[in-house]
Amino acid sequence: MLTTLRHKHLLGIADLSPDEIVLVLDTAEAMKEVGQRTIKKVPTLRGRTVINLFFEPSTRTRTSFEIAEKRLSADTLNVAIASSSVVKGETLVDTAMNLEAMAPSMIVLRHASSGACHLLSRICKASIVNAGDGMHEHPTQALLDAFTIRERKGRLGGLKVAIVGDLLHSRVLRSNVLLLTKLGADVWVCAPATLIPPGLKQMGVTVTTRVDEAVAGADVIMMLRIQLERMQGAFFPSQREYFSTFGMTEARVARAKPDVIIMHPGPINRGVEIASEVADGPHSVILDQVANGVAVRMAVLYLLAGEPQNNAAAD
Ligand code: CP
Repeated sequence: MLTTLRHKHLLGIADLSPDEIVLVLDTAEAMKEVGQRTIKKVPTLRGRTVINLFFEPSTRTRTSFEIAEKRLSADTLNVAIASSSVVKGETLVDTAMNLEAMAPSMIVLRHASSGACHLLSRICKASIVNAGDGMHEHPTQALLDAFTIRERKGRLGGLKVAIVGDLLHSRVLRSNVLLLTKLGADVWVCAPATLIPPGLKQMGVTVTTRVDEAVAGADVIMMLRIQLERMQGAFFPSQREYFSTFGMTEARVARAKPDVIIMHPGPINRGVEIASEVADGPHSVILDQVANGVAVRMAVLYLLAGEPQNNAAAD
């Protein structure tokens, strides 16, 4: 039975085998139990320093990494980019090299550039954990999504998962497609043609522009945020028209399985990609996803901090 990860860093789901994904999910179950205790703390990362380096805004990911680190007894600190020397023009590499000089065990990085985490993994001794890099990957989001699906459905293999929204700009989409196809889910993706990136079909998913077709008989509907901040041009006529054609309404949810779960990584654009009645309704597991993020990130940090000899395949 697998007990460790092969790599020293978590850069993306692309680097994880199906067995490694299951190991993270199983480990997260034990970590979730820690979060249900009165004293929510174990000594696993005592004496290790973890730096959270977020160059983009975050509520859920940054907070849950920090809570996860504290529950594992790590010495954790957040670099406030707005009051760091980044504003004086210091580069990502120089920032990382200077933080590295203070000997952290891990750096959790969110950055607007795809590949920023790969870059740091080549120059840092610390383990690099990808907390979202550009439009590339958001691996811990996909892992917490998988954990939430497995918790509700008991499995991932064979489930119909419909992912609807801004596919073009979404790192969450990419990580989820990689993970869900590795574990045997039947993945459908849906967006206006202008928001469908090339190469999706080759990743083993069914692509459609018809939302009713995507959600028909679905076990899971995962909505993606319209990322207005990454859009330079007009990808659809108006937010009102987007909602009318692609927005998740109660009427559309009724086309899925009766026990469908509704997911969204957040933050939500209410009335744009999802109606409030759906986001807050009986099928929604959106806040379960947030809660599970802590346990999954504890599992990732714990597994990456394994004994050095277990991480010999570090890339
Ligand atoms: N899902 C997610 O990454 O949310 P934040 O941007 O708030 O971290």
